[in-house]
Amino acid sequence: MGNLTTIELRGVSVFVKKRPLLQDVSFLVGPGDVLWLKGPNGSGKSTVLKMMAGLQRPREGTVMVDGQPLPPGRFLTNAGVIINAPVFIGTLSGFANLQLLAAIRHVIDDDTVRQWMSRLGLDPAERMRVRQYSTGMNQKLAIAQAVMESPVVLLLDEPLNGLDKAAKALVVTILAEMRQARPDVTMVIVSHEDEVAPLVTRRLVIDGMQVVTDGSER
Ligand SMILES: Nc1ncnc2c1ncn2[C@@H]1O[C@H](COP(=O)(O)OP(=O)(O)O)[C@@H](O)[C@H]1O
Ligand SMILES: [Mg+2]
Repeated sequence: MGNLTTIELRGVSVFVKKRPLLQDVSFLVGPGDVLWLKGPNGSGKSTVLKMMAGLQRPREGTVMVDGQPLPPGRFLTNAGVIINAPVFIGTLSGFANLQLLAAIRHVIDDDTVRQWMSRLGLDPAERMRVRQYSTGMNQKLAIAQAVMESPVVLLLDEPLNGLDKAAKALVVTILAEMRQARPDVTMVIVSHEDEVAPLVTRRLVIDGMQVVTDGSER
């Protein structure tokens, strides 16, 4: 699954308890797409991202990755993912957390981790434990975690949450640069923030348990 870039939901339905949350949802994102997924609170945006990442299975329908059904138990390995608040190890520093994550795939070294932390305004030498981090610091660490390996897929759930204006602008700039460096990146951004608008190439909205084209697009 090294160069996977296309993710498709085919006839996906999700139920919470017995109530339908998403019904017969089908759409596809591929290389070069920067998809902005919107929708009211509780409409299922995070659920959609989790299914795309392979972290949640639909009750009905199929998640296809590069034209193949995502096998049970598999998840996207070449994707940078923020799923709501990512879970870091609270007793370790931010750098130690990112080091641990980087050790999974061994594609970046410590200096790259340090550079991403610095870029996001986090001091890699800071010894403060992550459980002492502010919401904004935690979010910056989550962004660093998602982008540091320059993944071919980015699935970002509320990436600007908890950030001040300057940090939001910085994150948008970083994402724009990633796309410039790698135009075939596949990005899905769930956000209520208009700051992401300049990045996006497509907009979808969850409306009435369906994923539909955003009527406000034009
Ligand atoms: N694991 C779960 N157990 C129970 N309810 C859940 C679970 N995941 C999501 N839900 C419910 O499904 C709905 C959609 O959740 P979510 O996908 O997080 O929406 P959004 O991200 O659009 O706010 C919410 O009503 C939420 O309470
Ligand atoms: Mg959500």
